[in-house]
Amino acid sequence: MTPIVNSFFDTATSTFTYVVYEKEGSSCAVIDSVLHFDQKSGRTNTSSVEPVIAFIQNKKLQVEWILETHAHADHLSAAQLIKAQLGGKVAMSQHIQQVQTTFKDIFNLEGTFIADGAQFDYLIQDDEKLVCGDLVFQCFGVPGHTPACMAYQCGDSIFVGDTLFLPDVGTARCDFPGGDAQSLYRSIKRILSFPDQTKLYMCHDYPPSSREVQCFTTVAQQRKENIHVHDGVSEEEFVNMRKTRDATLEMPTLILPSIQINIRAGHFPPKESNQVSYLKLPLNIL
Ligand SMILES: [Fe+2]
Repeated sequence: MTPIVNSFFDTATSTFTYVVYEKEGSSCAVIDSVLHFDQKSGRTNTSSVEPVIAFIQNKKLQVEWILETHAHADHLSAAQLIKAQLGGKVAMSQHIQQVQTTFKDIFNLEGTFIADGAQFDYLIQDDEKLVCGDLVFQCFGVPGHTPACMAYQCGDSIFVGDTLFLPDVGTARCDFPGGDAQSLYRSIKRILSFPDQTKLYMCHDYPPSSREVQCFTTVAQQRKENIHVHDGVSEEEFVNMRKTRDATLEMPTLILPSIQINIRAGHFPPKESNQVSYLKLPLNIL
């Protein structure tokens, strides 16, 4: 069954949130929600997720799944806010355990934080199918940007997470802990093995000034035009390009706060004795 896809673009982090559903009043899935975070004050705000919640209420949708394509490094997830207001199960790849293990060490997290994925309501196995009313999401692992990246295919659409960007922007970086350019190349090839007209929905867009923001493209367009990985680019060429390019990139502005929230499924760290949650800044680690 072909889903209806409604996209929301967060300009602060260039992130797309998707609401995927069958019809008014049906079940829906929310993919990659955003909770704003102001570094200067340490305050979160809900301005990015409020339109998503309003849309779901207007269409009388029932949230079944709150999906993450990966543990984002550029924004905080609003998954827990959506769950608190609208219900649904917060889910992502089972491989989040690997990401949690890496970052539990980096942040020296409290002993009660167990890197077993139990912070999420549901861990998705590779190649598992998730039922969402009359829709089915075929989930498949697309590691490379992170070990726990997962793409979600529903009907003629795939939500590709941080793998491909629009053809003129290229592909996701692979230099975060656990990232791997060779794996990303193979993950992208799997996505590009779908039929030509398959719609590929991006996690982000960083458009040049010459065009508007755009949330999807097709397999055919990517194979023909993607500047990093069009047909004919070998794995070796891709890996060399990615490593060279990644060495020039700064860390994302919100990587340290984002990871600490996102590996907790969007929960804040436990409150300390004064009833306040804190985030950490590891010095000279990343
Ligand atoms: Fe990412």
